[in-house]
Amino acid sequence: MFNLILFGPPGSGKGTQSQRIIEKYGLIHLSTGDLLRTEISLQTSLGIMARNFMDQGLLVPDEVVIAMIASRIDENPRALGFIFDGFPRTCAQAIALDDLLNRKHGEISLVLSLVVPEPELIRRLLHRGATSMRADDASENLVRARILEYHDKTAPVADHYARLGKFRTIRGDGSVEETFLLLCTEIDSLL
Ligand code: AP5
Repeated sequence: MFNLILFGPPGSGKGTQSQRIIEKYGLIHLSTGDLLRTEISLQTSLGIMARNFMDQGLLVPDEVVIAMIASRIDENPRALGFIFDGFPRTCAQAIALDDLLNRKHGEISLVLSLVVPEPELIRRLLHRGATSMRADDASENLVRARILEYHDKTAPVADHYARLGKFRTIRGDGSVEETFLLLCTEIDSLL
């Protein structure tokens, strides 16, 4: 199994690049943001609870997202591997993910972190907010709150994988195609 984490702040291109990576490498895409937005659109109790956090740019509680990821891993026993997009976002989530994969005799193969300057992150998210229905792209305050939450709670996850020798940074401020080629070079070096 090849299990990849696409890491980086809001707007760094994790979702955009995940789509291309699954097409090329046949991995299963697990995006906690997409899973949560589906729950919101279905107006489930989980979705209603999660929305309170997401609308403020805050992380949803660990136990909620860990349970969602655990069930999606269980639903795909024959997967060639997974690409985790937006998960793990806290150290507790990283430890839980290692444990979930170990139980399947798997592990994280590689963590690729997209590095994009903050003004470009804000530009991209506000641009999408002007043309899409994503509530959390609607204002600069909300976008900045998400970036703050990333620095506060998610950035420390990098150390967890760096200690395991699995963490690499990639320039994410080029074009979508340029970034994809950089990611493929790193992935191909391990396959
Ligand atoms: P989530 O959906 O994961 O959003 P995010 O990580 O905050 O940000 P994005 O998905 O917007 O950024 P991205 O890096 O995927 O970039 P994208 O490719 O979309 O999470 C939303 C919320 O859900 C969180 O705030 C939290 O509340 C909750 N949540 C999710 N996971 C959680 C977890 N594990 N724990 C707790 N809570 C969780 O690109 C962004 C824009 O930029 C697009 O318009 C795109 O077209 C454009 N773009 C991309 N690449 C380029 C490029 N190279 N050049 C120019 N534009 C580009």
